[in-house]
Amino acid sequence: MEIRKIGVIGAGQMGAGIAQVAAQAGYDVVLRDLEAAFLERGLNIIRRSLGKLLEKGKLDQSAHEAALGRLTTTVHLADLNDCDLIVEAIVEDEPTKLGLFRELDQTTKPGAILASNTSSIPITRLASATRRPERFIGMHFMNPVPLMELVEVIRGHLTGDATTQAVLEAARRMGKTPVEVNDYPGFVSNRILLPMLNEAVQCVMEGVATPEAIDQVMKLGMNHPMGPLTLADFIGLDTCLSIMEVLHRGLGDDKYRPSPLLRKMVQAGLLGRKSGRGFYRYDEKGNKIG
Ligand SMILES: NC(=O)c1ccc[n+]([C@@H]2O[C@H](COP(=O)([O-])OP(=O)(O)OC[C@H]3O[C@@H](n4cnc5c(N)ncnc54)[C@H](O)[C@@H]3O)[C@@H](O)[C@H]2O)c1
Repeated sequence: MEIRKIGVIGAGQMGAGIAQVAAQAGYDVVLRDLEAAFLERGLNIIRRSLGKLLEKGKLDQSAHEAALGRLTTTVHLADLNDCDLIVEAIVEDEPTKLGLFRELDQTTKPGAILASNTSSIPITRLASATRRPERFIGMHFMNPVPLMELVEVIRGHLTGDATTQAVLEAARRMGKTPVEVNDYPGFVSNRILLPMLNEAVQCVMEGVATPEAIDQVMKLGMNHPMGPLTLADFIGLDTCLSIMEVLHRGLGDDKYRPSPLLRKMVQAGLLGRKSGRGFYRYDEKGNKIG
């Protein structure tokens, strides 16, 4: 299964990053979102990120131009028809993703691999929306995609060996280290990470300490490069809540109950860095204020 052209659906913080690393790796890339304005926002994320790599000397001018030249954007799903691999990175909402994969299965060429960057929705369930579960897989990139080395490759119950091999190879070509795991709620990364972030939110709610103090304890005491509340803001509190709900439902254990404060902040539109406010405040460039 040779992969030459990659479609990325969703030009948010993850989709933009995935499109960037794929284009840098020499793939032709089509990035799709619902509106031109969302695509422009995604392209700006990519331009900024490539610009930083250029500044730091990690990329030369010709590689910079070549990567941008390999990237096209569209609002039409039909423009992804001839892709060999499609990576979905839209909102973390199961019915929305199921609807998209149902449509993709009808429109993309039969041999194409469909991959989801979902943080927590079962790959086997998403695959069931298609008639090609053997060519369906989880490709879980980490945020920020251009900087993080890991791609968690999640095999659904019916994912074929050839699909897994092709995706492992594509991830390596993008400069990543893929790690293969099986399909259980939260996979490995979020099964372990999210309960810790949720517990930090619970500590804020109970008044155990301020967000700054909690982050400092985990940075200085546990040698974490980033405190859990800074990380939750970075991931997006809506995404954190969705993942906790999946763990809670999927594993049926109340130890995964989302913190009521997390739920309330999402209801209030405090989504973290992307909305300008979560546990901290951010300027329009996403830098912490104060
Ligand atoms: N944020 C993280 O740290 C992180 C890490 C790993 C995985 N993920 C997963 O990646 C996915 C995307 O997360 P994100 O943080 O980039 O979200 P985001 O909100 O930044 O971006 C989502 C994008 O998808 C677009 N979209 C929604 N429905 C669409 C459709 N039907 N077709 C095309 N585009 C559509 C939206 O307009 C938006 O631009 C989610 O499944 C999330 O769980 C997120």
